[in-house]
Amino acid sequence: MGNGANEGFSYFAEIAASYDRVQSVLSPPYERGLETIVELVPFDPDEPFHFVDLGCGTAEPTARVLERFGRSTAVCIDSEPEMLGIAKRKLTPYPGRIEVREGDLTDCAIPSCDLVFSAKTFHHVHPDRLPSLIARIAAALRPGGCFILYDTMSVGPGWSDEVRRQASRFRERHVQRAVDSGRVTREEIDARREYKRMMKAAGKDVEYEHHAEDLISAMTGAGYKEVAVVWRLFADTILLAFVPAGDS
Ligand SMILES: C[S@@+](CC[C@H](N)C(=O)[O-])C[C@H]1O[C@@H](n2cnc3c(N)ncnc32)[C@H](O)[C@@H]1O
Repeated sequence: MGNGANEGFSYFAEIAASYDRVQSVLSPPYERGLETIVELVPFDPDEPFHFVDLGCGTAEPTARVLERFGRSTAVCIDSEPEMLGIAKRKLTPYPGRIEVREGDLTDCAIPSCDLVFSAKTFHHVHPDRLPSLIARIAAALRPGGCFILYDTMSVGPGWSDEVRRQASRFRERHVQRAVDSGRVTREEIDARREYKRMMKAAGKDVEYEHHAEDLISAMTGAGYKEVAVVWRLFADTILLAFVPAGDS
């Protein structure tokens, strides 16, 4: 990790090499969120389908779906070349089934497909840009296609202090278990948190708190037929949405 936030690096370029090992420590629900995406894929394991992973990062979610669904093919899109370099190496066991593209979610072409998912990425997109992104996803989906959105978001009334304290305890117990098991060191976690704080202060790691209600309303406005909150662990939430089938 570099010496500070003024080096001209983007946050994800700097942390790419340790992302896979550290992400599931810093975000306790992450592992279960990824497993849930795989379980929510609305196809049988031997069915062919084409999917797009928006903000694929190191392609951890994509690799899991390709592994479980042996006839699926995918396009992975992310704006950060360092993350995409790791994604390409991770996806070498799936030749001919995968295309990795560098692109910005807010204006890239989204290929026609049966399924789009995005994990832990929409909170980097400005709220004003979400409705058009959600509409472009709907337009890319074939009739009856599915969108799975996994990210941190708020739902319903705000949390009380007690719930915030409990969320913090939950997170810290998880981190401590990872430290005790030797998976990460306390110094590494502290350094990562400090680096993120510096990058945020420098405006190089921008995050927004989206409300599930706003995302659902943007989906409904974009013509999705059904939208549901299907999973939640503290702020980590999965929305499941379908565009109308051709005959409806
Ligand atoms: C927290 S990581 C999540 C990566 C991956 N989806 C996962 O679950 O591990 C967020 C990713 O979003 C990407 N990202 C952020 N803003 C983006 C944008 N506007 N266009 C494309 N990718 C973006 C970052 O480069 C990073 O790889």
